[in-house]
Amino acid sequence: MDQKTFYITTPIYYPSGQAHIGHSYCTVASDAIARYKRLQGYDVMFLTGTDEHGQKIEIKAAEAGVTPKQYVDKIVADFQALWKLLDISNDRFIRTTDDYHVKAVQKIFRALYDRGDIYKGKYEGWYCTPCESFWTETQLKDGKCPDCGREVKWAEEEAYFFRLSNYADRLLELYEKQPDFIQPESRKNEMIHFIKQGLGDLCVSRTSFTWGIPVDFDPKHVVYVWLDALTNYITAMGYGSDDDSDYRKYWPADVHFVGKEIVRFHTIIWPAMLMALDLPLPKQVYGHGWLLFGDGTKMSKSKGNVVDPVILCQRYGVDAIRYFLLREIPFGSDGVFTNEALINRINSDLANDLGNLLSRTTAMAQKYFGGHIPAEREAEPLDDELIALAKELRAKCDAAIDGYQFSSALTEIWKLVSRTNKYIDETMPWALGKDETKRARLAAVLYNLCESLRIISILLTPFLPNTSPKIQQQIGATPEILTYDAASEWGLLSADAVITKGDTLFPRIDVDKEIEELNGLIPNTSAPKEKAPEPRKIEGLAQIGIEDFSKVELRVAKITACEPVKRAKKLLKLTLDDGAGQRTVASGIAKWYKPEDLIGHSIILVANLKPAVLCGVESQGMILAADAGEDDVKVIFVDEIPAGSRIH
Ligand code: ME8
Ligand code: MG
Repeated sequence: MDQKTFYITTPIYYPSGQAHIGHSYCTVASDAIARYKRLQGYDVMFLTGTDEHGQKIEIKAAEAGVTPKQYVDKIVADFQALWKLLDISNDRFIRTTDDYHVKAVQKIFRALYDRGDIYKGKYEGWYCTPCESFWTETQLKDGKCPDCGREVKWAEEEAYFFRLSNYADRLLELYEKQPDFIQPESRKNEMIHFIKQGLGDLCVSRTSFTWGIPVDFDPKHVVYVWLDALTNYITAMGYGSDDDSDYRKYWPADVHFVGKEIVRFHTIIWPAMLMALDLPLPKQVYGHGWLLFGDGTKMSKSKGNVVDPVILCQRYGVDAIRYFLLREIPFGSDGVFTNEALINRINSDLANDLGNLLSRTTAMAQKYFGGHIPAEREAEPLDDELIALAKELRAKCDAAIDGYQFSSALTEIWKLVSRTNKYIDETMPWALGKDETKRARLAAVLYNLCESLRIISILLTPFLPNTSPKIQQQIGATPEILTYDAASEWGLLSADAVITKGDTLFPRIDVDKEIEELNGLIPNTSAPKEKAPEPRKIEGLAQIGIEDFSKVELRVAKITACEPVKRAKKLLKLTLDDGAGQRTVASGIAKWYKPEDLIGHSIILVANLKPAVLCGVESQGMILAADAGEDDVKVIFVDEIPAGSRIH
């Protein structure tokens, strides 16, 4: 018989800024499911990736002075490194700049056009650049983007449209026939309401920027991001490529995990596109909640102020972070991230409850039996309750995981951890150890502790993939008794098992001291490279040596001409006299300066920066400016110094 498949996806993230704990949240949750399903014996496909096209990234890259591809390559590498650090077991990683995806999207676009589901028209509407979303007048909230609350601008252009309006009835019918298509339930009601307000057609191409997949039969258009993005779930499996065997094997996906802000795209646009293509629909879309800061605001990269998971992993270990994310916030709800909550969880659940259970058990097994628990064991009725609870644990975890309730699954596991700790108090092995006639009873108690830990360790593997093997190694459990089947059976640990006391799983943290240090580090965007505090060091910044600084060639240059850049509102194109000749620089300062404010002034130029093309302008350097306040930038003028002077 064929092995049952299970296909799970995360959103493909925008590599427009550094990955943060919010992205980690969804990816860790998906990873826990993928691992749980593998444990259960499924043939799992776990997909994640990056959504790399669009105007926002084009602009960010221009501001950074690099091409869009260079810009995303760097951030995508960081995302991938973070997933490695967090022990994410994705089977595949899709980048929407991957060649096979580009070709498949072009095919899909053409197929929809040929069927009449895409047509050419003219777009007028309110556009939110950060969200890459068009809105109608009535959808705006106080004149701003209803999703993020930022300014929107009026946009008008020739565009292709997808006939989303044709699918309203079929979507409503879908929600009715497949009642758990949208989870949690409350999000379904929002979607029904949204559709009943009236569905317009969806703009699926743009001509106002170029960083996207060209429409092959009309190449001045690029595919507008949501068609490009959503189709990743099938193109990554080979749909639209020569080898589509994985598509045939894994599609439809069992579940798409997405944040609640993009449920609409996944439960309205995505199924409508699939209906238009006559393809099967995903079985479920699960909209999880947001991680919020203590003040209730959402962590997001566009706000800049995000918690860096790398710092947290360095300090507490990957499993502590995974545990916190999955245990603290019921999946589907919003949750607040605070340093205090994190440390309390680590101390109470991991160090105290689980860590102590293991260290007490292994220490006593060593002390009383040199690490070999004798086969002669004397049971007592008191043991039955512990054994029953342990044997039921797997079924409870299965039920919680079926509903994607990580927090409930972990709560169930911790009930057994607590019950086992209580069993130590009840049986008092230290008293038994003093009485030679109680050897067999002491052996039974210690054996039961190990068995309980064995079952706990199996069911914890999907959540704490680093910690479980440590527990298993210390209690001397071998792979054949660490399977899914073995998790509901008692008494499998062999009498030959060698029990050893290993390192502490989770060292206890001094709360006050740690909170103080942590508050200084987080929110933060980059890990400090050196630990020792030094005078005058800037928090969160690595120090560099003079040899690093001397690589940067700074020169005074005079601005001789200046004009706006048509394709990028934030950019100005400057012509500079750098003492040796003329050069062009694009600079993202249009918000603060008009060309006439700049012409004739002298500035500081990074003269040996590699040239880069920014929105069609070849930029041959960068000018220095200061962040002079919140959202205020001031160019550094040095009018009294002659052009060409070196600064060192
Ligand atoms: O929306 N709390 O990408 P994105 C919880 N490219 N989860 C969070 C979070 C937070 N504070 N911040 C981000 C996009 N996330 C599109 C998706 S899919 C075809 C295209 C997680 O980089 C959450 O899962 O904005 C959210 O939906 C996702 O990151 C959005 O990532
Ligand atoms: Mg987002």
